[in-house]
Amino acid sequence: MENPDFLTSDLDAVAAWRDQLDREGRTLVFTNGCFDILHVGHVRYLREARALGDALVVGLNSDASVRELKGQGRPINSGADRAEVLEALKCVDRVVLFNERRVERLIDRIRPHIYAKGGDHRPETLPPEEREALQRVGASVRILSLVPGRSTSATLARLTGDQAGPRRPRLAVLGSGKGSNFRAILGAIREGRLQAEIAVVISDVPGAGILDLAREAGLPHLVVDCGKRRARIDAAGSKDLVDRVRASGADLVILAGFMRILEEPVLGAFPGRILNLHPSLLPKYPGKDAWVQALQAGEKEAGCTVHLVTAEVDAGPILKQARVLVEPGDTAETLYARIQEQEHRLLPAAIEEYGAKILQGLQP
Ligand code: GAR
Repeated sequence: MENPDFLTSDLDAVAAWRDQLDREGRTLVFTNGCFDILHVGHVRYLREARALGDALVVGLNSDASVRELKGQGRPINSGADRAEVLEALKCVDRVVLFNERRVERLIDRIRPHIYAKGGDHRPETLPPEEREALQRVGASVRILSLVPGRSTSATLARLTGDQAGPRRPRLAVLGSGKGSNFRAILGAIREGRLQAEIAVVISDVPGAGILDLAREAGLPHLVVDCGKRRARIDAAGSKDLVDRVRASGADLVILAGFMRILEEPVLGAFPGRILNLHPSLLPKYPGKDAWVQALQAGEKEAGCTVHLVTAEVDAGPILKQARVLVEPGDTAETLYARIQEQEHRLLPAAIEEYGAKILQGLQP
């Protein structure tokens, strides 16, 4: 059991120590995290953070806040144990357990000179409340690079992989519609054509068919409220989406008919890890109803594309494409039906190829 007194009394001591350092003209660095199963990625990160100043304080998420961020089943180690391990590191001077999901209160109390944050952020993608707190106390922000492939989720997956064969990429599948491509992913996994696991299925549309499929398959599924703007996600929705995907431990985010445009902080949270399926031979016909655009333009061939998602809509690097001939007498419906047949083959194949590269560390 975590002792709540420990949280506050320790914080007072740290705040007083910060003032002492300040008087001596020394610099206090602050960072925070869950540090559940300590690995070399953590250690290198903490060393780098410590090197930014003269002392390092680590805000350590309490068990309740780790559960909220990473899901049930985490943390593996209790807050007291995690704090003890961290405190044993030469590069860590003090550890403060905190009970909240967010870190503003700690920043306000500790008033660090420097705030260090892990590499999937940029100063402008920090939550606004955090940015305001940092401004209030006059702390500067330093973003540190994370060590690729060294994460608690990867460690856990390796542990379970030891017993259950080679590790397979975990997928967060996002969809707004009927989910025929998700069904194709499930079929490919069942038939052994795709080595992957479904970490979570997320929809922005309550009642979407893709959620029914996930429920029937007994897989984790949920709705993220993306807000009222059609085709976009509001700030709260984006934040929730990032948290939910992270909590699932997914290696890849698969947009299988997800009809909203992803922006920051989602893109920055999963760089090179988001794949989108689009029903045209990109770069031709980005946007909505791509096959109708192709038909109306009198194209002789149409098709589908799997590509990496970047800030420019439907314009990221292409991973795989399939062509479909436009036949005389084709209507939008007949053409789209044949494109979907190809999609159901293309998407699992693209995930299989790209997922293997991710696990081998050949991609970021
Ligand atoms: C797919 O045809 C996919 O290409 C398209 O949504 C459909 C989802 O179908 N995506 C886009 O148009 C994205 N711009 P599904 O729900 O049956 O898998």
